[in-house]
Amino acid sequence: MLSERVELGANSYSIEFSSDPYSAISTFLQTYLGKKVLLIMDDHVESIYGAKLLLSLRSAGHAPLSFVFPSGENNKTIDQVMNLLDVALTGHWNRDDIFLVIGGGVVGDMGAFAASLCLRGVPLIHVPTTLLAQVDSSIGGKTGVNHAKGKNLIGTFYQPKQVIISPHFLKTLDEREIRTGLSEIIKYAMIDSPVLLSQLSEWLLAHPIQYYADYPDSFWESVIGQCVRIKARVVSADEKESGRRMILNYGHTFGHAIETATHYTRYTHGEAIAVGMNLAALIARGLGLCDDTLIQTQQSLLQLSGLPIQSDGVMLNTLLDIVKNDKKVKNGRLTLVLPEYIGKVRIVPDVDEDNIRKILQEVMP
Ligand code: GLY
Repeated sequence: MLSERVELGANSYSIEFSSDPYSAISTFLQTYLGKKVLLIMDDHVESIYGAKLLLSLRSAGHAPLSFVFPSGENNKTIDQVMNLLDVALTGHWNRDDIFLVIGGGVVGDMGAFAASLCLRGVPLIHVPTTLLAQVDSSIGGKTGVNHAKGKNLIGTFYQPKQVIISPHFLKTLDEREIRTGLSEIIKYAMIDSPVLLSQLSEWLLAHPIQYYADYPDSFWESVIGQCVRIKARVVSADEKESGRRMILNYGHTFGHAIETATHYTRYTHGEAIAVGMNLAALIARGLGLCDDTLIQTQQSLLQLSGLPIQSDGVMLNTLLDIVKNDKKVKNGRLTLVLPEYIGKVRIVPDVDEDNIRKILQEVMP
């Protein structure tokens, strides 16, 4: 099975692929025997995997506590973090007791944020169960919760001790969850890998997305592995996003704004990012950075993946107002990640808001 490493000196860690995540978790936790383990999950993951996980941890000699909260982006709140910390601190947590976070992006971001705060930082292991969390959010140490002013506006950088990825968990995802993960995979192809883009396009043409349940583990290991490799390399070079890591935000500035404008209910993260990538490409073309072929190639792949390329009912003015409040906006000037060609994006500082408005007016009300 594959293994990748994020190289961050004393904070380095490995990302292990395993067809049997239960034994991979037990193997990693051998060094934590005698330490307390807090299993953090939402009620959806708990209903499918909770009993088996608890049994497996108990058989491996642990006596885990668990924190279960209602699933959904609207529960990624500071209040839930406080509830989680109550469980740990009431359980007399020590600094070498470990948080085991299992689930999608919401659970991962929130559980990791809590780990970074508890006693100024306790060890953390990520077991991502959604495609999106496996290719992106579980790697790289971004943690956080949402605020009424925007998504992930409260958070920290905090690296896990290990990430365990298994295609086993993909089997219980619905098609919309698979599509939302594909959106981040397309992001990786657009920013770094024409090879991944061709592989994905050819695969989806031959194996339409409705038949995702029949996709073999070897397909998932290959595409997830390529994304993880790209992410590990980018994060190893720029942990705190002072430069190059910004390329991972391709499609995210407008994507986050769409999520905020629709109150995190109408679009999944991946769907919003799909629209965001299309808007970023249209802006790039308007600024003369890329050609029509890139727009069409990206739109075709997004549509083959069953993803939207435009958002219904979100007005351009609303979108731009939210974008201006994005944490990545410096001194009121927009810095955007824009594509030049497939596999190459550029960080463009000082993009003029009026210019964006003129370009997007043609596709948005
Ligand atoms: N999801 C973008 C990043 O981790 O930097």
